[in-house]
Amino acid sequence: MLIVSEIAAFRQALQRLARPVGLVPTMGYLHAGHLRLVERARQDCASVVTTIFVNPTQFGPQEDLATYPRDFERDSRMLEHAGVDLLFAPNADEIYLPGFQTWVSVEGVSQPLEGASRPGHFRGVATVVAKLFNLAQPEYAYFGQKDAQQVAVISRMVRDLNFPLDLVIVPTVREPDGLAMSSRNAYLNTVERAAAVVLYRSLSCAKEAYEAGERDAEALRQAMRNILESEPLAQVQYVSCADNDTLHELHGPVSHALFSMAVRIGKTRLIDNFVFRDGTWLTGSFNQG
Ligand code: PAF
Repeated sequence: MLIVSEIAAFRQALQRLARPVGLVPTMGYLHAGHLRLVERARQDCASVVTTIFVNPTQFGPQEDLATYPRDFERDSRMLEHAGVDLLFAPNADEIYLPGFQTWVSVEGVSQPLEGASRPGHFRGVATVVAKLFNLAQPEYAYFGQKDAQQVAVISRMVRDLNFPLDLVIVPTVREPDGLAMSSRNAYLNTVERAAAVVLYRSLSCAKEAYEAGERDAEALRQAMRNILESEPLAQVQYVSCADNDTLHELHGPVSHALFSMAVRIGKTRLIDNFVFRDGTWLTGSFNQG
């Protein structure tokens, strides 16, 4: 695996890769969820390119940019072992030149949920992802379903700006007790880690209620809230049962939906979701270790 940190070297290395190229953008501190993206890219593509870049523009001023977990040595060993061909790990000043002033702003679908809690977040995500697409020019790009709204925003951007690539969305990978894998799980202490499973329990409760015949969107949101509120360490930011495509909250009978939530456990903000579409639940898969 070749590791480069400068754009010129990245472009040169890309020219030598067999096509099709699959791009797996990450912010590092990798876990089994990221490795699942790489594994899927390996299956589809002749070459796999991964990026590690903790993108400053997607963090709000009060957020965890400075403390975001980082372990480049471990990450690069994991990627090499997973069969990645090229790793691009730039510094912020390589991506954002002095005077940078061009942004990609996806409108409607960026606004509710995470967008409401994290103003500017998706402008940062869309901008850096557009730059990575322009730099790497992959045929395929891989993202995790755990960041459901990020998937919606990037899908919209790819369609609206005619990026010539296919997005591949890979199911959430879960710990054995159901907690969705996330680099931010590293912030949880033992007591908080035990409490964090409440997000999965809450989503499972909505699914069970639906399967038992409950169809009303507000009743399903309330079922999720009840479980979350039974956990003393959980501070709920939002609980949503929304249209899968527009992300607008649903009212009345539900036939398809994105069930999602953001919850603070102690100081750690966690998100998770289940998707219900075409009569099928997408809940993720358990890590086989
Ligand atoms: O999902 C992430 O890790 C980041 O939001 C991404 C897509 C790498 C952009 O910085």
